[in-house]
Amino acid sequence: MTGTPRRILSVLEGKTVSPPPIWLMRQAGRYLPEYRETRARAGGFLDLCYTPEFAVEVTLQPIRRYGFDAAILFSDILVIPDALKRNVRFVQGEGPQMDPIDVSEILALKADGVLPHLQPVLETVRRLRATLPQETTLLGFCGAPWTVATYMIAGHGTSDQAPARLFAYRHPEAFEKLLSFLAEVSAQYLIAQIDAGADAVQIFDSWAGVLGETEFDAFAAKPVARMIEIVRQARPGAKVIAFAKGAGLNLKTYRQKTGADAIGLDWSVPLSFAQELQKDGPVQGNLDPMRVVAGGKALDDGIDAILQVLGQGPLIFNLGHGITPEADPDNVTRLIERVRGWKA
Ligand code: CP3
Repeated sequence: MTGTPRRILSVLEGKTVSPPPIWLMRQAGRYLPEYRETRARAGGFLDLCYTPEFAVEVTLQPIRRYGFDAAILFSDILVIPDALKRNVRFVQGEGPQMDPIDVSEILALKADGVLPHLQPVLETVRRLRATLPQETTLLGFCGAPWTVATYMIAGHGTSDQAPARLFAYRHPEAFEKLLSFLAEVSAQYLIAQIDAGADAVQIFDSWAGVLGETEFDAFAAKPVARMIEIVRQARPGAKVIAFAKGAGLNLKTYRQKTGADAIGLDWSVPLSFAQELQKDGPVQGNLDPMRVVAGGKALDDGIDAILQVLGQGPLIFNLGHGITPEADPDNVTRLIERVRGWKA
């Protein structure tokens, strides 16, 4: 590569970059007035995701405002169920909804229509890589099979994913079929994003934390491992960040079981444990998003604690989950300045 190196890619190769590169999960979103303005012009949320002109615009908004080290493609993990014709709707104030899937529908799932349906998203990736500053890493993403399956089975978000857990115990064969189907189509989708210009990809397993030990291995780690295997067979050297929110001690073997280059950590991961995990490779995280809402000393103290413990090793500074609509955009400026001003 010529010119300025992409700092996040250096970290993903295992290097320590000081001060660490930074981006935020959900960095394009409702906390930004310019996002709300484009969102209103686009119409529905899925229209925003499927109109390259709008999706490019909202992806670039946080880059223009803050100069993050990475841009993350603006889309959603639920475009996969949408491409599978599950009648996905984003109802304002109610979160996502879709038709709950049953055993016979799982057995009838077909992959053929998925990538054709997602062409507008891939066009967004191509336009982004052509537009972004050279030094900005472009991240593609998708949901992990378990997290996507929880929405497909319940038909909406739940607080504990009881419907998907129950389904998995009652219909183990159909459930396994659903996970392997999602692993296959999601891996093909990631490969298409990489071919369209994504420099690295993140797999979001936002609901990994509701699983017991055996189920974590079978439903979270194994399908993600399969995805990474498919991606690397097709595109050797592809860089992958895996984020298993709430996984706790299951994180100990998660990198090794999945083959992810970096693992994302939520804010409940103790920094001493994070430091152990960092001995095996890069970590990403893990500031509590509520510290960005609170601002001031709460924000500064949270940032400093992470930098002190993890700043001497391969770290991508991030939140422990997505930034929330209540966050003050000025607190994000303060966060970036503090991270960028840090000296080991
Ligand atoms: O900036 C970025 O991080 C890229 C865009 C992105 C969105 N969703 C945009 C979005 C990404 C990476 C996601 C991932 C996603 N989507 C996850 C995994 C990460 C996580 O946050 O746990 C999940 C579980 C979803 C499913 C989803 N999408 C939910 C539960 C909701 C509703 C909750 C909410 O905040 O309204 C969405 C909608 C959504 N996806 C919004 C955005 C900016 C808000 C929609 C709006 O503008 O009204």
